Amino acid sequence: MDKFLIEGPCKIKGKVKISGAKNSALVLLAATLLFEKPVTLKNLPRVRDINTMLNLLKSLGSKITLSKDRKTARIQNKKKLKTFASYSLVKTMRASILVLGPLISKFHKSTTSYPGGCNIGLRPVNYHLSALKKLGMKYQIKKGYIHAKSNGRLLGTTIKFSKISVGATENTIIAACLARGKTIIKNCAIEPEIKDLTNFLNCAGAKITWKGRTCLITGVNSLNETDYSVMADRIETGTFCVAATIAQGDLEIQNLNPKNIKTELNILKKAGAKIRVFENKIFIKGPKVIKPIKNIKTKEWPGIATDMQSQLMVLMCKANGESSITENIFENRFLHASELQRLGAKIKIINNKATIQGNTKLIGAELMSSDLRASVALVLAAMVSRGKSTINRVYHLDRGYENIEKKLRKIGVKIKRLK
Ligand code: EPZ
Repeated sequence: MDKFLIEGPCKIKGKVKISGAKNSALVLLAATLLFEKPVTLKNLPRVRDINTMLNLLKSLGSKITLSKDRKTARIQNKKKLKTFASYSLVKTMRASILVLGPLISKFHKSTTSYPGGCNIGLRPVNYHLSALKKLGMKYQIKKGYIHAKSNGRLLGTTIKFSKISVGATENTIIAACLARGKTIIKNCAIEPEIKDLTNFLNCAGAKITWKGRTCLITGVNSLNETDYSVMADRIETGTFCVAATIAQGDLEIQNLNPKNIKTELNILKKAGAKIRVFENKIFIKGPKVIKPIKNIKTKEWPGIATDMQSQLMVLMCKANGESSITENIFENRFLHASELQRLGAKIKIINNKATIQGNTKLIGAELMSSDLRASVALVLAAMVSRGKSTINRVYHLDRGYENIEKKLRKIGVKIKRLK
């Protein structure tokens, strides 16, 4: 298993280009199952989760041609596809559940492996299933699989989520696109990735409009040939912004939409970062003294992203005073805290609230990755720790960060991949 060797503390300066958003690319790829006409998706990030989704689509019968740089995929589906999403693929990536909505909508049947647990929380799929059921899907869970079917086309209806869920919103929107009549989905997640999904579907002829957290969909019979570019990764953007802030860095971050990271940039400004924002780039300089922040609370968009929580925790370890972070989305998303403690961090956790003492002189150590964002937090921490750190199990990082060690090396981080 690959490891990273990082020698800190590092000086950070230079330019970084942000890749396409993993979480948008995944759902756009799943949505291509609705199409009979060819779809071209550009700006795909070259990360492992995208390969998993491409393999899943191939296993269903999609014909996929990748460009030489693997950032553009042309997807052409046969009239009939397979409808079986196997355990072997789903178990490696929970986002595979996103094929259920399009399969049931387009082919009126699907056998999809039920996603298992995950390090950061239980992550059930009950809202996905109940919303699809309201659209006309019947299902049974047997031997670890969701056996689903519908009586022909799904039928538009009104759905209200009792809790905001990114994945359930996405699955339901995709399914409703080809349903008969109107669907109204209330209390939707409205993360930028979801707006990217509805923009993509509208480009292909879907009829989707938004009113706050309500999504209105008028079903269409089919979707048109489409060419679409995936939005920039806002979490990768935020991660590099934290890197600059924590290490007195000076970065120009390119190819992004600053509006998608506004809330997190405000936090970094409070911490002392100097930030200049342009249409598709950010200049950011880290302060000499990082200010502590009390009451950082993760929340659904437009709140602070849970996917930025671990990076902000590392930043607060280096602030000159006490900070606190409350995790409101996932029940077990402080896995990085005990690894940060191995570097010397002073973090106390009570329920979903972490109190961070700050003013910590971090010292390099051997560390273990547990999930994607926890792993990137360890990279940031190792960068500002004195001495060598080894980060084990970096396959977690490879799932969602394109060429992270190359990008970091280019801006001055002493990082090596050990095979
Ligand atoms: C998406 O996960 C992202 N994944 C996550 O990114 C992200 O952290 C999360 O949204 C929140 O922003 C992808 O887009 C592929 P949810 P998702 O449904 O859709 C509960 C990363 O690091 N819930 O909004 O699975 C759930 O347990 C990842 O890139 C139910 O109870 O998140 C959680 O507590 C990790 N029942 C909360 O809702 C359901 O049916 C929000 O989850 C669905 C969700």
